[in-house]
Amino acid sequence: ASNGCSSTNPGQAAVKPSPLPKGVGQPFWLLAELTYSCPLQCSYCANPVDFKNGGDELSTEQWLEVLRQGRKMGAAQLGFSGGEPLLRKDLEVLIREARQMGYYTNLITSGMGMDAERVANFKEAGLDHIQISFQASSAELNNRLAGSDKAFEQKLAMAREVKAQGYPMVLNFVIHRDNIDAIDQIIELSIELEADYVELATAQYYGWALANRDQLLPSAAQLEAAEATTNRYRDQLDGRGPKLIFVMPDYYESRPKDCMNGWGKFFLTITPDGTALPCHSARELPIDFPNVLDSSLEDIWYRSAGFNHFRGYGWMKEPCRSCDEKEKDFGGCRCQAFKLTGDAANADPVCEKSPHHHLIEQARDSALHEIAAANSGQGSQPVLRNARNIGRAKQQL
Ligand code: FES
Repeated sequence: ASNGCSSTNPGQAAVKPSPLPKGVGQPFWLLAELTYSCPLQCSYCANPVDFKNGGDELSTEQWLEVLRQGRKMGAAQLGFSGGEPLLRKDLEVLIREARQMGYYTNLITSGMGMDAERVANFKEAGLDHIQISFQASSAELNNRLAGSDKAFEQKLAMAREVKAQGYPMVLNFVIHRDNIDAIDQIIELSIELEADYVELATAQYYGWALANRDQLLPSAAQLEAAEATTNRYRDQLDGRGPKLIFVMPDYYESRPKDCMNGWGKFFLTITPDGTALPCHSARELPIDFPNVLDSSLEDIWYRSAGFNHFRGYGWMKEPCRSCDEKEKDFGGCRCQAFKLTGDAANADPVCEKSPHHHLIEQARDSALHEIAAANSGQGSQPVLRNARNIGRAKQQL
């Protein structure tokens, strides 16, 4: 469909909409993935491997209609992300309008494509919060991981600019085997840049990252050391300086994460072409998800088959169905269950109770083998996410 949202809003139609289903809350968090394009090539990117398969990007007016509908439904937090959202020339317009609608607005960016003037424009438009991602604490490693020899200097300059213009700033470092042993230097850099929060988030294995898992997954020993270092810094900082948030990879847990706080509970993602998803990875599931060009956000959130697919507990198989922890973790991550076991209704194999848990153990073993190979000079490099490699990956799909 190519028609805009406003022409498909059933609020304007003569047909009376069915009442809202009971027990489904509001989409509190709205994530606007403005584009899948990105100037960087990170090997741990969680975006779909065949990201170019999506249709055209939504226009400014189509995005504004999505934001209006979301706000009407109670959405309060709005994230602009991608790809790299700075590539959208209408970002300032979207921020200004969103702020006027009453959203708390976050920009989630690599910093590539930003300059002092743009930061000032964002401020003037009312942007509340900026998160900048770094790959590492040194120019050499950062630029190698990003696949860009200008990335580190640009990120440093923009982090300084963001603070100079009075923003609260989150720095995000995706942690994996290549940068985890330098976590002390990462924290030092974050202190120097006066970050308010630092996310030390170990890579999650979706999309492009899953294809590189053997090269990215750290060992248990690396993780323990990194967590101990983070705790040491927390003690030293004693409430001063940045708040450090260390996120363990679920591959080393015995119970799964309560992914997205539960399917279709608070979180609504709109992808660049207008497909609506309950999480950023759901596009890879064999489920038809609705598009904002065809349905109102209210229909999508409350009534669409895609969003109702894994709500409640009726869809669960054993061992989740009779598990006394199912209300805590909802059986884990549907996307991970699908990618690793082939059935999204299976328990997340991270769970030790899952009959597929051996897949996680195998992944850890496989990563250890790769570490041993790397130590003897035989290791392989992660594959960067760029147009040539995406083309190759698509041929293999
Ligand atoms: Fe999709 Fe976890 S990422 S449900």
